[in-house]
Amino acid sequence: MTDTATATSATSARTSSTSAETNSSIVFDNVTKTYPGQSAKALDSLSIEVKSGELVCLVGPSGGGKTTALQLVNRLVDLSRGEIRIGDTNIMDLSPIELRRTIGYAIQQSGLFPHCTVAENIATVPSILKWDRKRIEERTKQLLELVGLTPVDAWLKRYPGQLSGGQQQRVGIARALAADPPVMLMDEPFGALDPITRMAVQDEFLEIHRAVGKTTLFVTHDIDEAIKMADRIAILKPGGLLAQYDTPAEVLANPADDFVAEFLGAERGLKRLALTTVAEVLGRSRARADDAESRRAPMSSPPEDRVDWPVVAGTMTLREALSLVSAAHSHGARVMDGDRHLGDVTLHELVCPPATAVDARGTAGVRS
Ligand SMILES: Nc1ncnc2c1ncn2[C@@H]1O[C@H](COP(=O)(O)OP(=O)(O)OP(=O)(O)O)[C@@H](O)[C@H]1O
Ligand SMILES: [Mg+2]
Repeated sequence: MTDTATATSATSARTSSTSAETNSSIVFDNVTKTYPGQSAKALDSLSIEVKSGELVCLVGPSGGGKTTALQLVNRLVDLSRGEIRIGDTNIMDLSPIELRRTIGYAIQQSGLFPHCTVAENIATVPSILKWDRKRIEERTKQLLELVGLTPVDAWLKRYPGQLSGGQQQRVGIARALAADPPVMLMDEPFGALDPITRMAVQDEFLEIHRAVGKTTLFVTHDIDEAIKMADRIAILKPGGLLAQYDTPAEVLANPADDFVAEFLGAERGLKRLALTTVAEVLGRSRARADDAESRRAPMSSPPEDRVDWPVVAGTMTLREALSLVSAAHSHGARVMDGDRHLGDVTLHELVCPPATAVDARGTAGVRS
């Protein structure tokens, strides 16, 4: 997505109602699901709140109840016990059709209608809601810009079969957002993408999420995706039991039990480094260092022992910078903003960032 497209679409998207303005929290209150004919529970006494505007990732092993939890919210699956509320409304007080009008639903493989054009796919819910043609056209174009499919006229009349997987996923997200629902349910929406496209679509989705602020419950198998995307992560274990519900930083720093630690994997320490940016470490080191002045002074040319240090951007995560430093066999990296030298970070600072840096998710330099 271009910067201009992002700025334009973000501004226009902000003019629509956002979840932060109205209470669109999703509350699972002691929710249990047992499928007919099954003795085991698919979901067992789940109690979590996804706050208005929050992006929560639901992760866990296959069969752990993630899709079930999502489909209970839009009543594709019926509750066995407990209560789900969106805002102050018990979902059972609405008809499934009324309920689904307030919820965008995006699934793996995009789920687009193959015989409908991109424009027709995006217009699905607005058409059901009987929006007039001009409003639907305007909304469709606005959404295509938002998901980075520009110039929009090039995409409107294509069929899903004429799009790449990543483009289909973008259209799937546009379709889910079409009627501006306050709540989004996403079930492994990027699951079918290759790692590079996946990263690009994740970035775009995060951009959209920040712009439009919808309450989002997002299922993924991929713990790295959850760490990158989520405000909070709910980890389910076999039997549909909640193992932990917390911020990515807290989950990584303090896994609730052996199951969570194992689920996070042996690279838990490295994953923590993905929560902090180089700029933040630079700031913290400066605040502490005795030689603050020498660090701060821009250098037109690096000292001899740093000539071969790789250049990194302040926006990079420590994990990304560490990867470059490791590949260059260097003892640190030079932090540049274009031509401007912001300072240097040492290998030691990358591996052992100054205290609290990795624990302060939500502060400057981490996700805004
Ligand atoms: N319609 C159904 N009838 C009976 N059992 C079902 C049905 N749908 C799901 N289940 C069972 O419920 C449990 C949870 O399934 P669910 O699809 O929610 O898991 P999941 O966490 O989404 O798994 P995956 O990561 O593989 O998508 C599984 O044991 C599954 O076999
Ligand atoms: Mg599933």
